Amino acid sequence: MIRIGTAGTNWITQQLVEALALSQQFTLAGIYSRHSETATAFATKNHAEASYTDYDEMLAQAKLDAVYIASPNSLHFDQAMAAIAKDISVIVEKPAFSNQREMIAFKAALAEHPNVRFFEAARHVHTPNFKAIETALSGLPTVQGASFTYMKYSSRYDKVLAGERPNIFTREFSAGALQDVGVYPIYVAVALFGQPSHVDLFPTLVETGADGKGVAILRYGDFDVTVSFGKTSNAYGLSEIYGLKETITIDSAGELTHVEQRAADGQATDLSQGDLANPMLPEVMDFARVLQAPDDPQNVRDYQRWLQWSLTVNQVLYSLRVSANLSFPADAH
Ligand SMILES: NC(=O)c1ccc[n+]([C@@H]2O[C@H](COP(=O)([O-])OP(=O)(O)OC[C@H]3O[C@@H](n4cnc5c(N)ncnc54)[C@H](OP(=O)(O)O)[C@@H]3O)[C@@H](O)[C@H]2O)c1
Repeated sequence: MIRIGTAGTNWITQQLVEALALSQQFTLAGIYSRHSETATAFATKNHAEASYTDYDEMLAQAKLDAVYIASPNSLHFDQAMAAIAKDISVIVEKPAFSNQREMIAFKAALAEHPNVRFFEAARHVHTPNFKAIETALSGLPTVQGASFTYMKYSSRYDKVLAGERPNIFTREFSAGALQDVGVYPIYVAVALFGQPSHVDLFPTLVETGADGKGVAILRYGDFDVTVSFGKTSNAYGLSEIYGLKETITIDSAGELTHVEQRAADGQATDLSQGDLANPMLPEVMDFARVLQAPDDPQNVRDYQRWLQWSLTVNQVLYSLRVSANLSFPADAH
């Protein structure tokens, strides 16, 4: 069993903990929260061994193999660095780090801890439906572009409209729509097509100064990928990958819950692989597989691939922000 601790106690950590339980590969060894009541309640509810109000104390005392970090984005770097300094593997929520400087520094530290594994929790690219998209793509005679959309109205935008500054809508926490939801379709583009040759971002800012929605263009030489993302409105249109006469359609580039291929005559074949018991279960099973057998040749290949995706996504997100002069306080350090 893999001994894991958690940082952050919002709903995403609860979902992760339920996926860990379903996987039967993990022991919940520690829960960290800034508040003791929250830490105790979360630990009790989920049968964790111990709770902590000091993150470093959890790393020092809980005998962890891995830590899951689901704090605001701007805190990921310090929490991940502290973990690998103790040879503890890290699963960091997307987007892993605020900028390229942090990613480069983290990668250098990772090289000094060869037994540590680093995973960015990009749940959707570990799903059977993503693999179905990859397989369908490999059968297309050519690729002429893609249009990916992920837009969900955030209840926290109500707070912005009421004059508040929720973390997820602030640059101080390296947040905003690109980081929070744009990252999903960008992950799909990078995982399917690799690193774009040029990127441009057209963000719409909200009252807090962060982006609430936007359009990103990823140029790939022969074709372009258009990404529409946002937290201030809802989108219901399909995401699409254009072949020649064939098209792959996806319900949402963030959820990937329904995938179809349209033939030349428009006839649809459903490629969806069924509902997931928990949206995070496939990634949790993948991470467990690598943590338990890191030297297995297939696991080595998969790990290197996921690591490359993470590095490239970080670079694309940063380049997009640079293209639109969208800076974070974390960029100034
Ligand atoms: N993969 C997914 O589907 C998914 C979905 C949602 C979010 N996420 C990612 O998960 C991460 C957290 O997002 P979120 O929306 O849950 O963030 P959040 O609500 O702002 O904060 C998450 C947790 O971090 C702690 N925290 C909050 N403010 C803090 C502060 N000022 N200083 C230190 N700790 C603080 C809180 O835990 P305590 O009060 O217990 O310390 C809180 O529960 C982000 O990276 C986000 O992108 C991923």
